[in-house]
Amino acid sequence: LGVWIFGEGRLSKKLHCLSIWLVAFGSNLSAFWILVANSFMQHPVGYTIANGRAEMTDFFALVTNPYVVGQYAHTVLSGIVTAGVIVVAVSAYRLLSGQNIDTFKTAIKSGIIYSLVGLFLVMGSGHLQAQFIGKNVPMKMAAMEALWETENPAPFTVIANIDTENKVNHDAIEVPYVLSLLIYDSPEGEVKGINELQEQYIQQYGYDDYIPNVVLLFWSFRIMIACGVAMIGAMLLAGLLFYTKRLENTRWFLNILVLLLPLPFIANSFGWIITEAGRQPWMVVGLQKVSDAVSQNITSTEVLITLIGFTLIYALLAVAAIFIALKFVKKDAHKMDDEGGQA
Ligand code: HEM
Repeated sequence: LGVWIFGEGRLSKKLHCLSIWLVAFGSNLSAFWILVANSFMQHPVGYTIANGRAEMTDFFALVTNPYVVGQYAHTVLSGIVTAGVIVVAVSAYRLLSGQNIDTFKTAIKSGIIYSLVGLFLVMGSGHLQAQFIGKNVPMKMAAMEALWETENPAPFTVIANIDTENKVNHDAIEVPYVLSLLIYDSPEGEVKGINELQEQYIQQYGYDDYIPNVVLLFWSFRIMIACGVAMIGAMLLAGLLFYTKRLENTRWFLNILVLLLPLPFIANSFGWIITEAGRQPWMVVGLQKVSDAVSQNITSTEVLITLIGFTLIYALLAVAAIFIALKFVKKDAHKMDDEGGQA
């Protein structure tokens, strides 16, 4: 990444381009292995329990875990959406300044197409992953939907005031049949509720609280979807305005495109909150609880210090990344001004 950022003009164009392709290839490969590990925690496969520990028996089963297929697709596609929205927002910002119109018209066009392809696919892959979760990790789905009782057909709850103490929802707006339809592609289909699953897990795994944070999951899911819907609406309108040659003159809408910038980051963050909070209280679903995974040879003070250390390092990296990105946007603009928009 450093070679790409600082190598412009110092390296041949081909080598410079190769450096960013290697970054893309490496990041996607790295994401795959991280998600193979993560999907094992969500839906363990390819192992046997021997000598009190999980041992891998089938590497192929591990890397083709049906969970990782959906998770990898959804994660990579959300990266595509993020990149597309950044290009659109920066281009809209530059179009507002009125300089290098032709350059940024080309950029915004590719950004809109890239974002739209990414958005349709991210929603499709998210839908398939939700179907898989509904059938294979039912407590996560029940918590994401704040579905306390088993229902057939199950309604989709748009919003609700969730009362976790009494395990009921107040003032819920429900659309009948839709949850069954989303999970089974049919208006009929049983979706197990939190209360029944809790009883079932007590029988299966012993007495404990197996209910994740329902309020957090319910709202995180809706925020992620709302961000996706808002981005798709904005990109469709942007495409229409571009096609009818009105985009660069519709200043209020260019301002909206700039404001879209945080949405993919918000969707990504809430997506990860769903994935990890929905796994609780398990470290590896059905195999090991988080409370049993606590290291015995490290104190909580050491954990706290490490966490603070990581937070500081990542905060510094974030500041540096934002600083360099902003510098890039401005520097390129000046360069383009000097070079008459040819950069
Ligand atoms: C209709 C829209 C969407 C649906 C149905 C959907 C569905 C899902 C589901 C079910 C999960 C949880 C997966 C798990 O627990 O393993 C998830 C996670 C996630 N979502 Fe979405 N999503 C949608 C839109 C988006 C958008 C627009 C973005 C970002 C641009 C996004 C980014 C993520 C990320 C980064 C994760 C965590 C990674 C993962 O577990 O796959 N999602 N999504």
